Amino acid sequence: MVAHGMKNACEGRKSAMSQVTLSGLTPTSSGIHLGNYFGAVRQWIDLQKEGGAHYFIASYHALTTVKKAQALSENIFGIACDYLALGLDPEQAVIYRQEDVPEVCELSWILSTLTPMGLLERCHAYKDKIEKGISADHGLFAYPCLMAADILIVRSHRVPVGQDQKQHVEVTRDIAGKFNQLYGEVFPLPEPLILEGQAAKVPGVDGQKMSKSYGNDLGIFEPEKKLRKKIMGIVTDSQGVDDPKEPEGNTIYELYKLVASAEQVAEMAEKMRASGIGYGYGHAKQELYEALLEHFADARTCRAELENDPARVEEILQHGAQKVRPVVEETMDAVHSGIGITTRKLRG
Ligand code: ADP
Ligand code: TRP
Repeated sequence: MVAHGMKNACEGRKSAMSQVTLSGLTPTSSGIHLGNYFGAVRQWIDLQKEGGAHYFIASYHALTTVKKAQALSENIFGIACDYLALGLDPEQAVIYRQEDVPEVCELSWILSTLTPMGLLERCHAYKDKIEKGISADHGLFAYPCLMAADILIVRSHRVPVGQDQKQHVEVTRDIAGKFNQLYGEVFPLPEPLILEGQAAKVPGVDGQKMSKSYGNDLGIFEPEKKLRKKIMGIVTDSQGVDDPKEPEGNTIYELYKLVASAEQVAEMAEKMRASGIGYGYGHAKQELYEALLEHFADARTCRAELENDPARVEEILQHGAQKVRPVVEETMDAVHSGIGITTRKLRG
């Protein structure tokens, strides 16, 4: 079975321009997990068909946690492969690395001069650390300004992200509104696009929200053995093989719903609810493992091909960098003339 609407870089399609969409992931690890995919990336794939989509790798954001050069460059390459294998299409969307648009750092500074301290103090990435007594650096504190710059530099209208990023898009709207009021209309006010329902909060193997930082994630491209071990370790209650079990809210079943067909899901629910049939959580976990591999089979094959062809990945990213350049230059010219700095063009 091929995943819902899934096409990947090993296939190809065309598009038409409309509203501008932008989103990105931070390469704090080299792999996209089920939460990232069902909470964010799958939506990006649907949206790219409408045209005007921009998907980037938020390398500078990763610097707040990744402090080793080799790890960062491997993560960036890894996320690029993941994007392409999962179906982000360089023919339909502009796919690029943040470092290929260094102007975001300049714009971030300009926007920071319009951003009240109180607004940043309320942002959860920073607030959570402080509340836990962990000291934060300026990068983490100023992170929403850089995110605003990412969004505004392509004058994006829509930002498809998971629930936890909504606050940052709202901060971006505030900052954009302030800029427009002070310096003239340059930026649209971007809307967050948030998925509702089960994809909004994909559970991890411990039943909490799946997150790299909790170490409870299932990476889509992890080696089979590792993935199976993690799935077999999913935390359950103590109902035995012959006991009836409630599927709703059960982590195995909730994850299965994301990757299996409607019939398979109905079948698992029936078997869980039955008593005396010798169907335990171990069986359900094995079915989840198999469905997950099947769902992402094409993507996993494509990912392996891309990993062995870094020159192709580099070419795609450079093509994205070239495609985004005109809009970045146009925005920065408008920003410069708004704030009273001579533009590149005028300087010749
Ligand atoms: P992580 O928590 O693993 O560090 P990120 O914060 O990098 O993940 O999230 C990247 C994107 O994926 C965001 O848009 C986020 O909302 C979404 N996302 C991450 N984890 C989940 C999850 N468990 N359920 C739904 N969406 C998620
Ligand atoms: N902060 C986002 C995350 O952790 C990544 C990101 C950086 C982003 N800049 C962005 C997402 C701009 C959307 C738009 O997932």
